[in-house]
Amino acid sequence: MRHLLTLFDLNSHELNRILSAARVLKKMHAGGQRPAVLQHRVLALIFEKPSLRTRVSFESGMAQLGGSSLFLGDDVGFGKREAPSDFTRVLGQFVDGVVCRSFSHDTAATLAKYDCVPVINGLTDLAHPCQAMADVLTIEGEFADRPLTENHLVFVGDGNNVSRSLALICAMLGMKFTLACPNGYELDQPWMSKISERYPDAKLSQTTDPIAAVSTADAIYTDVWTSMGQEAESAQRRKDFADYQVNSDLMKHAPETAIVLHCLPAVRGEEITDDVIDGPQSRVIEQAGNRMHAQKGLLAWLLNPHWVGENVPE
Ligand code: CP
Ligand code: NVA
Repeated sequence: MRHLLTLFDLNSHELNRILSAARVLKKMHAGGQRPAVLQHRVLALIFEKPSLRTRVSFESGMAQLGGSSLFLGDDVGFGKREAPSDFTRVLGQFVDGVVCRSFSHDTAATLAKYDCVPVINGLTDLAHPCQAMADVLTIEGEFADRPLTENHLVFVGDGNNVSRSLALICAMLGMKFTLACPNGYELDQPWMSKISERYPDAKLSQTTDPIAAVSTADAIYTDVWTSMGQEAESAQRRKDFADYQVNSDLMKHAPETAIVLHCLPAVRGEEITDDVIDGPQSRVIEQAGNRMHAQKGLLAWLLNPHWVGENVPE
């Protein structure tokens, strides 16, 4: 039984297979093809927090590949109505996979613990692996004329679920990654140590200087300063991140060829200004669109590996 709780659940080869499947399915989609790769498969979504991109891209992706999905609201009562072991063993008889968006990563890990059904992390406080996979598709699509390993991704903002997953995916794929953040908001040591142990050649760094960081960036990425669940800290965070806004002043220090990414939803006027997010270097809309393609690759790999073996070149 395979799960995707974090990208540590995959090795680089498996990640590359998923990304290759995503590319094949994206191309088919662009050509108007909707192959029934996931016919009769059912995906359940258990979401504790709001979502546009993750929910709709998973549900549409399943439908386009011939499967179906069930959005489970609060009434199923995961963690509230019955023991998680009962919940998961029952659910596993009805569906082929579960996407979980939870406040605590432990909630998603508990769903996976009984190995009844593959569990995909649709965002927890720890990680957002599906976002990072989509972001790789966006970067490689933009800089198709050179190897992915030649790109430098600079994240200006919080050491959070999104930047954590980006640091790891960059390590797995050989891309350079820099986090520019205020003191106290760095990526946590246990996560970074685990990356270095698993990927000793990883090109990762952290700095408090956003200007220096963006000067060699190919992609400049930001996310909200206050993630879902941290609302009580928002006033303090607005102060602490004041010098880390992605605005036209910062963009003057970046190469003109650099693209701007944001996982969305954005708080315009906080971490990013209107002129930058709507400007010529922004790729945030294409980036969101890639969520569906990346997740199709993941779903095909998890739920129909035979199809991937037959249709996705090594
Ligand atoms: N980026 C992202 O996960 O968006 P949603 O919160 O809308 O799913
Ligand atoms: N870091 C943000 C990402 C939202 C997609 C959050 O967790 O709220």
